[in-house]
Amino acid sequence: MPRHLTLPILEETGYVVLDSYQQPIDPAEWKDLEYVDWKSSGDTRFAPLASAYGQIECNGFWHFDPPKADKDGVWIDSQTAIAPTLTRRVQEIGANVGRCRIIELQPNSYADALYNSHLDDNNRLNPEGEGWVLRLFMQLTHNPDSVMILREDINDPSTETRISLPAGAQLLVDSERMWHSVWHQDSAGEARHCLITSVESGPALEKWVFENSPRTKVESAFLDQGEAFRGETIAQERRSARTAYYGYDPTMVMSEA
Ligand SMILES: [Fe+2]
Repeated sequence: MPRHLTLPILEETGYVVLDSYQQPIDPAEWKDLEYVDWKSSGDTRFAPLASAYGQIECNGFWHFDPPKADKDGVWIDSQTAIAPTLTRRVQEIGANVGRCRIIELQPNSYADALYNSHLDDNNRLNPEGEGWVLRLFMQLTHNPDSVMILREDINDPSTETRISLPAGAQLLVDSERMWHSVWHQDSAGEARHCLITSVESGPALEKWVFENSPRTKVESAFLDQGEAFRGETIAQERRSARTAYYGYDPTMVMSEA
């Protein structure tokens, strides 16, 4: 018996790709926010819209007193005032929301992305019988050459799906099950911005998913075979070296990111 309420549509592949968001959004909604330096999966900064208790920080909710599951996030007024459209997009779903923040990621390589791939810690302290927490990715900048790399098994490239990230791309991922990271390529060297939200599985989220033409399997974006082989080799060497250094693989310890 499942211990948490889940969305059956995610069972097969661990993700769904949804209709792209078509309304224009003023880039000031993510550029003008207050960011905190917080390293996760590469060269990143984060701007929270909702956090554990309304502070501008990005820690897992279990770090606080009292600790809590990644739900009932507190909206940060000074940030949501700058990003009203983004805030509304998330709130309109009607699901319980935990961490909600914009990630800023600098360009990287395929090998970097594989090296940084990890599982999220979304359900710590989440009581049994309540909804399983998933991650919703809403791509903001137009990065059609960048891809979200998902793997069921980080050591098995055949389990990989690469989902391209033009502006408006929306995907819902069981990121505690699926290894994930982004390979961000931009010829101008600009950062990628994406709104990432912890959302609780339940009727509201399921309704929203079905209103947005969910696709449980998409064709992977093209990847040159030579590049794939080189990236895999470099990334696995770096992952092995890191594991040797720590004495364990730190990405097996679920990430707060
Ligand atoms: Fe993550």
